[in-house]
Amino acid sequence: MKILIIGSGGREHAICWKIASEVSSATFYALPGNGGIGEIANIVDIPLDDLQGILSFAKQEKIDFTIVGPEAPLAGGIVDMFNKKKLRIFGPEQKGAILEYSKVWAKEFMMENSIPTGSFSVADNFEHAKRIIEKTSFPAVIKFDGLAAGKGVVIASDMAQALRFLEDVFEKNIFSSADKKVVIEEFLEGNELSYLIITDGESYVPLAPAKDYKKIYDGDKGPNTGGMGSYSPVSMCTHELEKIIEKKIVNPTIKGLQRRNIDYRGVLYFGLMITQQGPKVLEYNVRFGDPETQVILPRMTSGLLEILQAAVEGKLKNNMVRWKDDAAVDVVIASSGYPGKYETGMPITGIEKAFGDVLIFHAGTKKKNDTFLTAGGRVLNVVGIGKDISQARMKAYEKIEKIYFKGMHFRKDIALLV
Ligand code: AMP
Ligand code: GLY
Repeated sequence: MKILIIGSGGREHAICWKIASEVSSATFYALPGNGGIGEIANIVDIPLDDLQGILSFAKQEKIDFTIVGPEAPLAGGIVDMFNKKKLRIFGPEQKGAILEYSKVWAKEFMMENSIPTGSFSVADNFEHAKRIIEKTSFPAVIKFDGLAAGKGVVIASDMAQALRFLEDVFEKNIFSSADKKVVIEEFLEGNELSYLIITDGESYVPLAPAKDYKKIYDGDKGPNTGGMGSYSPVSMCTHELEKIIEKKIVNPTIKGLQRRNIDYRGVLYFGLMITQQGPKVLEYNVRFGDPETQVILPRMTSGLLEILQAAVEGKLKNNMVRWKDDAAVDVVIASSGYPGKYETGMPITGIEKAFGDVLIFHAGTKKKNDTFLTAGGRVLNVVGIGKDISQARMKAYEKIEKIYFKGMHFRKDIALLV
């Protein structure tokens, strides 16, 4: 069997690692992959935005099953292209990916289906947005409508900051979009939770809840990043809370998609704020989370490939997924300067020996001769596995002490106060 994984992060390395542990006879291809994935898969040098090139490769190599990691190819319609050629691929079609690539669409969908979320208004020009913000209180949450690689949301503490963001969107056109809209949303207080499911459009399996850390510095300070760490399970997510999330959020979302005639097969990621009034949706993503996947998959004892295939074929059963009680904690090591400018090409030492209770998932790395070099902002995910969160975190940090590359930066407080 030939399996193709699209993407280049720690998430894709974790997916590849998990499936490789399940099916020893498979041949893996990764596009564009990274140094760590290259230890399992054949690296294919086709850029992520060359959807036609990816399709041609899959046809030529007779790939049996493709898994899409990031959102951009889904928003670009890669699943539709594969489906037309009868090539099996895991992920939603473009019609479903709109849940992530348009925040306006997602908010209107939530209203239509009475899914709890913050109240909001939409503006399509600077003056209109400014008038709305003048009537709201601070902090004001302003979100660019389209995909923005994690840079499309600002929580403005005053008018000056709000206006700077509106200028960026409407005047400087920093998101290079012809159709410019923003959502201005009520600021919600509470605890964030990443709740993911895999669905075939009718049935679904919930994944183990996880929590991620978006800010670069300890104590949630500094700018947002792609994610500096994560852990699972999450004690705040009790059985009762999970029941509420399923009843008020997951089921109405699946029913709402069906009403819109969207045959959604893939991951649905609910970015939630657990407020005093209960869980509310901050955002939908239409793919696995990064770095959540790096702590979710090591806890999964059932087969992932079997679940992904069942989702594509419309044969998913709620009891297909099983978990171990162990906890997992992921600490991300980033390059100096990230999420701003950073250098690459630094040799990495100390990652050779990972044991059963420590896993290393690569993100921005590449292999040159026998050495791994840094090749991105987020470089490594060091995942500790233990009987509880505190043991898992200790294992991750113990391993990090042995790892070195010039300028490495990681948070010291991942999973500390849980
Ligand atoms: P989003 O991409 O919509 O998830 O927003 C990115 C981050 O901004 C979230 O993970 C939250 O930390 C924060 N955020 C988004 N919307 C809100 C909101 N309505 N209230 C408070 N924080 C928010
Ligand atoms: N961890 C946040 C995301 O994957 O979008």
